[in-house]
Amino acid sequence: SSTLFDAQPSSSYVVRRGFSSESAPERKVAILGAAGGIGQPLALLMKLNPLVSKLALYDIAGTPGVAADVSHINTRSEVSGYAGEEQIGQALEGADIVIIPAGVPRKPGMTRDDLFNINAGIVKSLCTAISKYCPHALVNMISNPVNSTVPIASEVFKKAGTYDEKKLFGVTTLDVVRAKTFYAGKAKVNVADVNVPVVGGHAGITILPLFSQATPKANLPDDEIKALTKRTQDGGTEVVEAKAGKGSATLSMAYAGAIFADACLKGLNGVPDVVECSFVQSSVTELPFFASKVKLGKNGVEEVLGLGPLSDFEKEGLEALKPELKSSIEKGIKFANQS
Ligand code: NAD
Ligand code: LMR
Repeated sequence: SSTLFDAQPSSSYVVRRGFSSESAPERKVAILGAAGGIGQPLALLMKLNPLVSKLALYDIAGTPGVAADVSHINTRSEVSGYAGEEQIGQALEGADIVIIPAGVPRKPGMTRDDLFNINAGIVKSLCTAISKYCPHALVNMISNPVNSTVPIASEVFKKAGTYDEKKLFGVTTLDVVRAKTFYAGKAKVNVADVNVPVVGGHAGITILPLFSQATPKANLPDDEIKALTKRTQDGGTEVVEAKAGKGSATLSMAYAGAIFADACLKGLNGVPDVVECSFVQSSVTELPFFASKVKLGKNGVEEVLGLGPLSDFEKEGLEALKPELKSSIEKGIKFANQS
C-alpha cells in the first residue's frame, strides 16, 4: 500500500517525518544476483532507502563494478560488492534482509515453470548459504518460479534446522503494482490512491487480483473486470514479449522489490500497520503456501490476513488456481528433498 516517492511525506524515502535516518537502527540488506537486470536497479533503489545502513551486493561476477558505481551516491548506506561463491559468507553475515533476484529470466514462449530446472538449483544453494551465514534474516524471494522457489527455500531451511515461517516471503508485489496501474487507467482514478489486493501465487492464473475490493470504488462492468484480471495475470508475459528475447520485467520489478523490502524494514523497525501482499506459509486456504495480505512486524510476518469477501468471479478464480499452485508447491518440495 506504499509507494517509493510518495506525495505523503510520512511514507516517503526522501522525507520521513518523525523517523529520520539518524534515528533509524542499523540494518544490513544483501542482494543476491545484484549484477543482473533486476539486481542493478534494485541496488540503486535500496541505496536510496535511508533505512538501510549496509548494502551488500553479491553475484557470481560483475558486482565490484556495480558496487563501486552505486557506492558514490551520497546516501546513508555503506556499499560492498562480493563476487564468487567464496565471498558469499561475507556478503550474508549480519544481514537483516536478503533479497534474491538470482537466476535466469523467461524468453518469449516460456512459462515461469520452464525456469525451474536452472533456478531451483541456484535458489537451493543460495538458501543453504543463508542458513549458514544469516539464519535469522528475512528472505525476499524474487527468483522464478516463485510458486516453487519459496517451498524449496522452506525445505532447505527445515533441513538446516533454521526454518522460521515468519521470515520467508515470495515477492508478489509486482502483481499488486500492475493491478493498481491497470485499475487506475480503467477506473479513471488517481493511481496514487489505488489499493488492490492480489492473492494466490505468482504465475498465470495463480495470480488472482481482487478487484471487488479495489479502492477507490469504481463499479466497473464485469467484462472490464475480466479484462483487467487477465491483463494482471499476463503482465509478465506482456513484458517478456515486448522485450523479444532480452529477458523479462527488470525495472518495474526493481521498483516492486524495493517497495516490499522497505515494508519489511519498516516492520522490523516497529512501524505499526505495515501491510503488503506476499506469498507465505499460510492457512488461509488448504494450500501450505499462498499469497495474501500480510502484516509485517519486528519478527517478519506478524499476521497472515484472510481473503475478505470475494465476488463469484473471484471465487471461481480461486478454485481454478488451486490445482496448479498445489502442484508447483509440491514440485519445489520434492526437488529440495531429492538430492
Ligand atoms: P538476469 O539474468 O538479468 O540476472 C540474474 C542474475 O543472477 C545474473 O547477474 C546472474 O549472474 C545472477 N546469478 C545466477 N546464478 C547465481 C548464483 N548462483 N548466485 C548469485 N547470482 C547468480 O535476470 P533478471 O531479469 O534479473 O531476473 C532474475 C530472476 O527474477 C528470474 O528468475 C526472473 O524470472 C525473476 N523475476 C521475478 C519477478 C517476480 O515478480 N517475482 C519479476 C521479474 C523477474
Ligand atoms: C513478472 O511477473 O514480470 C516476472 O515473474 C517475470 C516473468 O517471467 O514474467
